[in-house]
Amino acid sequence: LLKRRWAHWTNLEGIKGMKITFLKRLLHEGETKEYKHFVPFFEVIKTRQKQAKQSILVQVQSKKSYKELETYCSQYGAIKEMFHYKAGKEPLHFILVEFQKEASVMKVLRDCEHIQDSQIVPVESTFLWFRASKNNSVKKQTSQLVLTIENGNCPLSEENLRSKLQACDSISEQIEILYESTKLNDLGVRLRFLSARQIEVALSGIFPSAVAFPFGSCVNGFGKMNCDLDVVLRLTKDKISDGNRLIYHCKASGTSERLTSQRHMETIGDFIHLFLPGCSQVRKILQARVPIIKYYQQLTDVECDLSMGNMSGVYMSDLLHIWGSTDARVRPLVFVVRKWAEEVGLTNNFPGRWITNFSLTLMVLAFLQKPKNSPPILPSLNTLVKLAGSNDKYITEDGTDCSFLRDIRKLKFKAENNEDLESLLIQFFEYYSTFEFDKKAICLNQATPITKPEHNSLYIVNPLERGLNVSKNVSPEELERLRLEMRNALWAIQLKEKKADGWGILSLFENRGRQFPSILSNIPVKSHHTRLMEISKLFEEEHLDMVPKETES
Ligand code: GTP
Ligand code: MG
Repeated sequence: LLKRRWAHWTNLEGIKGMKITFLKRLLHEGETKEYKHFVPFFEVIKTRQKQAKQSILVQVQSKKSYKELETYCSQYGAIKEMFHYKAGKEPLHFILVEFQKEASVMKVLRDCEHIQDSQIVPVESTFLWFRASKNNSVKKQTSQLVLTIENGNCPLSEENLRSKLQACDSISEQIEILYESTKLNDLGVRLRFLSARQIEVALSGIFPSAVAFPFGSCVNGFGKMNCDLDVVLRLTKDKISDGNRLIYHCKASGTSERLTSQRHMETIGDFIHLFLPGCSQVRKILQARVPIIKYYQQLTDVECDLSMGNMSGVYMSDLLHIWGSTDARVRPLVFVVRKWAEEVGLTNNFPGRWITNFSLTLMVLAFLQKPKNSPPILPSLNTLVKLAGSNDKYITEDGTDCSFLRDIRKLKFKAENNEDLESLLIQFFEYYSTFEFDKKAICLNQATPITKPEHNSLYIVNPLERGLNVSKNVSPEELERLRLEMRNALWAIQLKEKKADGWGILSLFENRGRQFPSILSNIPVKSHHTRLMEISKLFEEEHLDMVPKETES
């Protein structure tokens, strides 16, 4: 009925705005309450990995080359979909071709050649280049397949986003539009899985079971266009012994596990740098708590963070995927908070003494478990743990129990909360601008703040490793800035009249702490921000685990 009404309303001019948003929300809520469209995290991962195995990435002259490419590739097997995008400054054009079967990719690779040049490293991979045909009379293209997406890896410009948000009829609609217009699209996810696949394939000679698991925002549903790829490389499958008597001979290291892991990552970093097509700007940050290799994959246009630790980051993404899928308001709310924090300079791309996107996400989720004036929207982790079945048992190598209900279709929790996004956003700012950060820790396990176990300025209990504080890095000054900006945001969002220039959530992004008195008002925000970036760069270059003391000033 709602769907028919939806079709009816969309045909009526003049009443579009509010009514459509309202119906859309009803439709969304109807769906999420029954979790009809929910797909468990590891099923999503499996599907995406399969897509990556069935795909090749081809650099072409222009998007018009797709018909010629399709005709050419069809000789190797049926094509399922083709996606076009541009990357780089020039820019270069690429087409991602997904075949119906993985075997077709094998056939393509069997026929591929290297260009004859003694300078090149003759690596074989699924990253290819479609050279112009020597034969002028190319066979006429008869194909009917159209590109699924054109220029599909290009985020909406800030200018266009602004005018879209300006034209909305309500703040709630602005928040939904922000989410819909900036979230990572299907092609973005494919390109990230293809980048992860490149590492697996490259190492498959000596590690045939190696799997590179994408985690973080590109798979947990909180990623925006251009988000990085966090990937954990596992050299072997987690397999429980079933009594096999033939065991592989392997090297054993004599040094500590951490040292060995650092040596391995050092080598893999060099390997990526020297041999893998498209991988540039390789930086090894091996002294950090979780050592990582950062690099830029220019063919897929993705920043990558590769680690080799345990699976806890992947299980965390699973948990965030579940919370994000529990209610249609969760992801839009997280998006607007993250965008606000980025715009006012609370977060940036470098690690340091400021809050991270991950911590901010947990703050939003914790708030939704216990909004001040209304019933909860999200269940506690303890509830999910209690409902875990035998298939939900996951324990990391170091013994951390990450078992919780993986399939929310079995969740008995129903959100009675009907607040719209506007009031939730305002409540979020109110909740944290009066939160007792000095005494309380944010705890998603219990869905209520607990007494702080340690004296870190901001304490967010790591939901899966309860002894750890996710936001240990946040300095008192940065926490104060966060609180101050929340108060500013509360004021800014209610200041401008509806439809006035830069109204609603736009006023959050454009205030940058300038309009309102603050203890930091004597520091120009921009230069403060630039300074933080400089310090962060230094931090990365020096491979230090701790941010230099100067940050404190
Ligand atoms: P983006 O800013 O969009 O990349 O968000 P993100 O969630 O991917 O954050 P980031 O790339 O910094 O981290 C990737 C993942 O690593 C997160 O989603 C978490 O699962 C995990 N992670 C990040 N920071 C921490 C931390 O401080 N502690 C723990 N335990 N896990 C973290
Ligand atoms: Mg990330």
